[in-house]
Amino acid sequence: MVTRKTVWIGTNWKMNKGPAEALAAAEALKAYRAPDGVKPFIITPFTSLQAVASVLKGADVLVGAQNMHWEESGSWTGEISPGMVKECGADIVLIGHSERRQHFAETDWTVSRKMSAALRHGLRPLLCIGESLEEYDFGVTAETLSRQLKIALHDVAHADLPNILIAYEPVWAIGAGGRAADTDCVAKVHAGLRAVLCEIAGKDIGDRVPLLYGGSVTQDNARSYVSQPNVDGVFVGRAGWSVPDFEKLIERVIEERAPA
Ligand code: PGA
Repeated sequence: MVTRKTVWIGTNWKMNKGPAEALAAAEALKAYRAPDGVKPFIITPFTSLQAVASVLKGADVLVGAQNMHWEESGSWTGEISPGMVKECGADIVLIGHSERRQHFAETDWTVSRKMSAALRHGLRPLLCIGESLEEYDFGVTAETLSRQLKIALHDVAHADLPNILIAYEPVWAIGAGGRAADTDCVAKVHAGLRAVLCEIAGKDIGDRVPLLYGGSVTQDNARSYVSQPNVDGVFVGRAGWSVPDFEKLIERVIEERAPA
């Protein structure tokens, strides 16, 4: 049974939707009224960030970027600065998605720098962490996540921690070849992440950092994750790319929710 915690439900469009398609999706989401206690968000490609954020300004659906550089400006060809992301109207910025770590050499060190840069610009960083299949097989999931978390949050003021989002996304669970993690396994991992957050910042703050699960989340399994005590939402790819699917996913998560 899902209790009345705030539930974050977001979708990462990844390298999908050109400007016209993204704008049409934003227009379709504009009138969407999020159920009480649910915070929906979409993470759009840079090419439509400004247009999508402008359509969804003041709407219930928050908007985020998929990445950013940590520096304010300079000779960084192909990169986008935190100030640019903010100026486009984004609320959220994705940091350290496993596809960036795997294919674009994103490291714990760059992730760490981006975290504080995002907060400096008033953006809400959505930090993605997750173990690879090898790390999972060697039984070092907890150690891997603890390392990723401690480095990413090293320069973040404790008072800022409730303003970030963390998504646990096992690399082996993401994408077409992935398999969704067992609910029990997610519950255990999230309890461990909560313990690390409390160790870093104390219980009062550690308990208030939203922890999302991501990786092959579907309309059928989303609610089982969100029903776990330390799971404050889901972060999806494929299951949220179409607007009707995204809205349906939210509906399925809050089905049978405990009365307020
Ligand atoms: P998926 O992607 O839901 O398509 O597995 C998840 C993610 O990359 O966040």
